[in-house]
Amino acid sequence: QDSCRCAVSGDRTSQRFYGMLAEYQKRRLYFAVGGITVTLNFAHRGFSGQFPENTMLAFEKAVEAGADGIELDVQFSKDGELVIMHDETLNRTAGVDGFVKDYTLEQLKAMDVSGKWGDRYGSMEIPTLREYFEHFKDLPVITNIELKTGIFPYPGIEERTLEMIREYELENKIIISSFNHYSCLKMKELDEKMPCGLLEESWIVGAGKYGRKLGMDFLHPAYPMVTESYVQDAADHGLKVNTWTVNDWDSMEYFAKIGVNAIIGNFPDLAEKALNPYR
Ligand code: G3P
Ligand code: MG
Repeated sequence: QDSCRCAVSGDRTSQRFYGMLAEYQKRRLYFAVGGITVTLNFAHRGFSGQFPENTMLAFEKAVEAGADGIELDVQFSKDGELVIMHDETLNRTAGVDGFVKDYTLEQLKAMDVSGKWGDRYGSMEIPTLREYFEHFKDLPVITNIELKTGIFPYPGIEERTLEMIREYELENKIIISSFNHYSCLKMKELDEKMPCGLLEESWIVGAGKYGRKLGMDFLHPAYPMVTESYVQDAADHGLKVNTWTVNDWDSMEYFAKIGVNAIIGNFPDLAEKALNPYR
C-alpha cells in the first residue's frame, strides 16, 4: 500500500483508493515510495474522439488505446434502469425527441446512438451500467461514473449505483463525480469510503476549502481553470485534481508537469503518448 501512496496522497483519500492504485502497479504505473506523481489518462465518454460516445465500442477502444480510466455518464430510464448517456435529451445522439427519463429501457435499447459515426461503425445501442460492469469488471481500468443529476435529480440514483458497484465488487475501481454536489454528498453519506469528485466549471473561489468541507477526495474542474496554484490549493486541502476535457498535447504535458491526478479527454491514444514521458 505504501508504495503507491504518492499517487493519491491526501490524508482524506481512502484506503480503498490505495488498493485501486495498487492494481495499476501490476500493470504499468510504478510509484516510487514518497516520490513520483503520475498523471492518469481517463477516456471521456470512452474513446469519444473517434468512436460513438458512451458506447461499448468507445469503451473497448479506450482500453485498447491504453486508457487508465473511463469516464461515463449515468441516468435513469423511465423504468429505473441505469443507462449510460450524456445528454438528458435523445436528439443529438439518437435522433429521437424527448428525454432519456421518459423512455423505458426496452425503448431506449431500440434506438441507435451511433450519431455521426453511423456510416463507419453501424448501429450502436445505449449501454446499461450493468452491461458495462459485466464487460469491464475484470479489466485494470478505473471507472469514473458521472451521475447526470444536474437537470433531473433522479432520486435514488446514488443508492442504485452504489448497490450495483457493490454487487460487482468494484468499490476499488470507481470514482463518482457530479455537477450536482448534493449527489456527491449523498454518495458519501451512503459510503464514506467511496472516492468522490466535485465537477465544476464556474471558477469557484476557494475550491480546495469547499471540497474539503464537503468531505470529497477530488476536484473535477473544467481545464481552463486549472493552474499550478489550483492544484496546490487542492493538495493543501487533501484533494487531487482530475480535469476535463483535455484534448491537446500541450495541455496534456502541462497538466502532467503540474501534478494533475488525471486528465479526462476524448483522445486516450494521444494522451497515452503525451503522458508517457512523465510516468
Ligand atoms: O466528467 C467530466 C466531463 O464529462 C463533465 O462534463 O458534460 O462532458 O459530462 P460532460
Ligand atoms: Mg461526463
